[in-house]
Amino acid sequence: MTVVRSTLPEEARRVSCEALQDTLVDLLGLSLIGKQAHWNVVGPRFRSIHFQLDEVVSAARTHSDTVAERAAALGVPPDGRPETIAKVFSLPAPKEGWLRDTEAVRVMTEALGAAITRMRERIDATEKADLVTQDLLITITAELEKQRWMFEAENVPGES
Ligand SMILES: [Fe+2]
Repeated sequence: MTVVRSTLPEEARRVSCEALQDTLVDLLGLSLIGKQAHWNVVGPRFRSIHFQLDEVVSAARTHSDTVAERAAALGVPPDGRPETIAKVFSLPAPKEGWLRDTEAVRVMTEALGAAITRMRERIDATEKADLVTQDLLITITAELEKQRWMFEAENVPGES
């Protein structure tokens, strides 16, 4: 069933919406692991990391809405169902239970780093397909890189 007609040719739409859907899964997953770490972090750096994690969650949620709506605008229904996230999400994630502050920083640095690598692949993939989608992906990548930097800056060599 085609409800919303795309303004893009078929192949450009396919490439763009695959990049948007994969980004949606990563962002929704990041918002979940960010909250998981927010609730479970323990240690002397609890307070700063607890609040920093909510910044990641807020950014991930905001941008997940943007990419989902971009997919819809291009005529492809976004899929943010829990079962889809559970099946597809594959970024590094915290283990179950309490999470040491140093471990929270490590896992979020890794998760954001892996997400950024994928975002840069999608930026390349959408270069010819759709510059508007690519522009969104670039904006989101800048935000993820800012968040990753703020976690990495907490890792003082020899202290974690
Ligand atoms: Fe909270």
